[in-house]
Amino acid sequence: MLWGGRFKDKLDDKAMKFSSSLSFDINLIHEDLLASTVHAEMLSKVDLISEDEFNKIKNGLKIIEEEWEADKWTPDESEFEDVHSAVESRLKELIGATAGKLHTGRSRNDQVATDMKLWIRKASSNLIELLTSTQKVFLELADAHTDTIIPGYTHLQRAQPISFAFHLLAYVEMFSRDKQRFTPSGVEGPLGSGALAGSTLPLDREFTSAKLGFNNPTRNALDTVSDRDYLLDFLNACSIGMMHLSRLAEEVILWSSSEWKLIKLSDKYTTGSSLMPQKKNPDMAELVRGKTGRVFGNQFSLLSTMKGLPLSYNRDLQEDKEQVFDSFFTYADSLSIIKGVMETAQVNSLRFIEELKNDFSLATDLADWLVLKGIPFRDAHEIVGKVVKFAEDNNKTFSSITLEEMKKINSIFDETALECFNLKTALQRKQTFGSPNPTLVKEQIAYWKNQL
Ligand code: ARG
Repeated sequence: MLWGGRFKDKLDDKAMKFSSSLSFDINLIHEDLLASTVHAEMLSKVDLISEDEFNKIKNGLKIIEEEWEADKWTPDESEFEDVHSAVESRLKELIGATAGKLHTGRSRNDQVATDMKLWIRKASSNLIELLTSTQKVFLELADAHTDTIIPGYTHLQRAQPISFAFHLLAYVEMFSRDKQRFTPSGVEGPLGSGALAGSTLPLDREFTSAKLGFNNPTRNALDTVSDRDYLLDFLNACSIGMMHLSRLAEEVILWSSSEWKLIKLSDKYTTGSSLMPQKKNPDMAELVRGKTGRVFGNQFSLLSTMKGLPLSYNRDLQEDKEQVFDSFFTYADSLSIIKGVMETAQVNSLRFIEELKNDFSLATDLADWLVLKGIPFRDAHEIVGKVVKFAEDNNKTFSSITLEEMKKINSIFDETALECFNLKTALQRKQTFGSPNPTLVKEQIAYWKNQL
């Protein structure tokens, strides 16, 4: 019990259960022990506790860490309100009355803010690592498919041919932006802010802040214990990251369908149907897409919790944790699942060769050919439109239309115009930086491999 002086009755059992955050804030145990050790070191440095007391506290906290790791100590939800009180109580059992000195000049309000900022730093670096390893899987796959031609789409209608490598590199770009979003925004140390208004004790905030790896102590104690912006930034980063995975999941589902037949998913990442023996379902991708909703929800949930709160700390803020932990675990799991799905998928690299020969997805290339002959682009667009119309009306495609037929539409056409319909050279003809030209795509792959 952290208070008692002015209380006659114990908290009602139901109220205890309702208000306890221990079942989830136990995730903060390592951060809590670390921040407490640093706080105690500072207390001894400014002579609020003796060197001897500091060593006792430090050793006690170390034992708790070891007990926790070895499953020898598991605090009970019905007994403690949160991880902070559970640790303090265990410390008292281990080292006696000196434990009561640990909370000198500290409130759980600045303590929990410190723990969460430390936890976010760790979680962010885990996610950055996972994103990097996912990028590597995509790069390997891209490397093998710089010449695998697939249709590129707009409006989910075939637009222009691209390569599978080029498509995969789009995700490598997204993952790179995702990593930038996981640079933690909570870089200032909360310890020493107390409940909301600092302390009359000579606490050394520079010391604790530097020791815990923060850039500097926070400047306003009131803001410090009210602030959850760094969690909202994290939740937003998780939402955008999941949105990217969800778009990928949608594509994986399409690509593996009988209609698309571009990829075949491994048995390791697909499930069967309890009724239809022939089925192989892309459940992993569907679940990633489905869980995205939950991660978006977490972000909105915390925004809603925050919006009406007067400064500074209110117990509502305890509701920040489940969302943050859930978004982290959901996103981290989704990333490693998607990584496995892509790593084990088989790509049918010849899938679109014939089909793309027989459609009109190189129409823009023909318009560009006319532009190089001096025709204004709008007119070129019109002329190519007529070529397509003629072909469609006569049951032909770009591969079967003859030069004579094209000349009838416009006399400017010559043999070199037919080169535009060559699917093999279509990507090589691309000139602009950022296009699917295989030489450029290979350069991009090399660039990323060098970066990661
Ligand atoms: N479990 C609490 C939370 O997560 C810790 C802070 C409690 N502070 C308080 N004044 N009751 O927000």
